[in-house]
Amino acid sequence: MTTVADGGLPAACVFDAYGTLFDVAGPVERRAATLGDHAARLVTLWRDKQLQYTWLRSLEGRYVDFERVTADALDFALESLGLDDCALRDDLLRQYHALPAFADVKPALSHLRAAGIRALILSNGSPAMLQSAVTAAGLAPYFDDILSVDSVRVFKTDPRVYRLAVDAIGVEAGRIAFVSANGWDACAGAAFGFRSFWCNRSGQPRERLPGRPEGEVRSLASLADVLDVNRRKAPSR
Ligand code: 2OP
Repeated sequence: MTTVADGGLPAACVFDAYGTLFDVAGPVERRAATLGDHAARLVTLWRDKQLQYTWLRSLEGRYVDFERVTADALDFALESLGLDDCALRDDLLRQYHALPAFADVKPALSHLRAAGIRALILSNGSPAMLQSAVTAAGLAPYFDDILSVDSVRVFKTDPRVYRLAVDAIGVEAGRIAFVSANGWDACAGAAFGFRSFWCNRSGQPRERLPGRPEGEVRSLASLADVLDVNRRKAPSR
């Protein structure tokens, strides 16, 4: 766990969703018996293509919601592996609306709630996808708001996305803690002006991109410590 600066208690903590709160490998892992050796490759192909499509569509100015991007990316990945199975495809997409939350999520959210720190989600996900995933994982009570890029019709890392959190919370970016397991997202949040924290669960090398996260943790279990939540009283909500 490393921290670069000690910036006091944040006004709110904003979490990325897919990869940070939710394990996007969940649907494929549940079908590992059917998929056999294809499973690991399918997880990587699907996620990489999903993100590529968000970045390319943002560059082109041709937005469609994350549900369509996720389906298109899955179709590409399945065809790449020669898996022509409509029932499998529909099942994987259905399960994407009820992804498993990582084990460190609820304890971390409980700690923030006990310290009186508001928690929000800021994600590429569509409002329906996010609401469904949050409800299915039993996380609804922990979040004050769920912000989707759908309201600005452009994906991360466009600054208009991060500005959604500033507008929703009503404080400047430097008073907001932004938490993402996607290194490129944590860098973009830092470049935007958030106090950005990278949850680097798998020990990835740092991204060579603008913006340097203030802190890096290997688990959300360390989030309260890296924010010094225990040392300070939260500002009134
Ligand atoms: C999210 O926006 C980056 O896909 C990730 O939730």
